Amino acid sequence: MTDPKDREKSPPEAHTPQEERSIAHRPEEKASRESGGAALAPPAAEEKSSPPILEVNGLKVHFPVRSGVLQRVTGWVKAVDGVDFHVREGETLGLVGESGCGKTTLGRAVLRLIPPTAGEVRYRGNNLLTAGGAEMKRLRQEMQIIFQDPAGSLNPRMRIASIVSEPLRVHGVCNDKDELRERVQTLLERCGMPRNCVDRYPHEFSGGQRQRIGIARALALSPKFIVCDEPTSALDVSVQSQILNLLRDLQGEFGMSYLFISHDMAVIQHMCDRIAVMLGGKIVEEGPRERILQEPQKDYTKALLSAVPVADPRERRKRAASAA
Ligand SMILES: Nc1ncnc2c1ncn2[C@@H]1O[C@H](COP(=O)(O)OP(=O)(O)OP(=O)(O)O)[C@@H](O)[C@H]1O
Ligand SMILES: [Mg+2]
Repeated sequence: MTDPKDREKSPPEAHTPQEERSIAHRPEEKASRESGGAALAPPAAEEKSSPPILEVNGLKVHFPVRSGVLQRVTGWVKAVDGVDFHVREGETLGLVGESGCGKTTLGRAVLRLIPPTAGEVRYRGNNLLTAGGAEMKRLRQEMQIIFQDPAGSLNPRMRIASIVSEPLRVHGVCNDKDELRERVQTLLERCGMPRNCVDRYPHEFSGGQRQRIGIARALALSPKFIVCDEPTSALDVSVQSQILNLLRDLQGEFGMSYLFISHDMAVIQHMCDRIAVMLGGKIVEEGPRERILQEPQKDYTKALLSAVPVADPRERRKRAASAA
């Protein structure tokens, strides 16, 4: 059930000139807001030509299957099996596919939270898989992840202030108590949370509010690249669009790149500039959003698209005719 606190909370609106500018670069979104449109407007259709922030080549993650008393390796789960893609600066690449196809494993391997079996991951030209401890620590400041399960990703024994300030303390960015508190409150406020929530614990908040806290934590170090691993799939539908709006507003404001993971094509098509379709550990189709939506090449992509509800009856008939 949705917490009433979340239902009452409207999506964060842009008020400052900076926020207005960030929305102005997506005219269709601005129009949608001005017309009171609740639905998210699609991102710009054209492929952005900014340089790649992340390049992944031939990435593999194979997990051993062990059995018997001696726990011998008897096989391998090829969770990610030779994947190539790139993410440009300021863009959102959507990674869509059915449950178990390897999306989370891929997202984590890209950040080296899981050791890859083979391949190459370059972040701004730096090979992440060979980077040493100090270099990796520096690069980690720029790369963050937002988890699917907002409850499980926040330490229940820590107050919100400690959770959100942890990255700042660990990386030695800020150690002054008052300054930390001020920074944390500003971050939380930007993510739609009241400033006075800092002294409370995660269980005192709804799912949507916990995800806002998780987003504030991810933003603490001003990252340039964020893996969003199904950030709304654990949330009620009414809260989903608020969180998606927040992520897009923050991207416009701070110019971050997202690898946006979801099994839901409807969410992907609202959020992403380009879409990569994953099946059985491989990317089977990849391209600009409009191309994938209007001219899907693979049957699997067509099947994912056919599961997206269409409000317009003419569009619905057109889709049924093309599927027949
Ligand atoms: N630590 C692990 N050890 C062994 N197998 C694993 C491990 N982690 C994931 N797998 C397997 O790898 C495959 C991909 O899992 P993954 O969690 O990446 O899928 P997913 O696409 O994120 O699914 P979902 O949409 O349900 O989150 C699955 O078959 C899973 O069982
Ligand atoms: Mg997953």
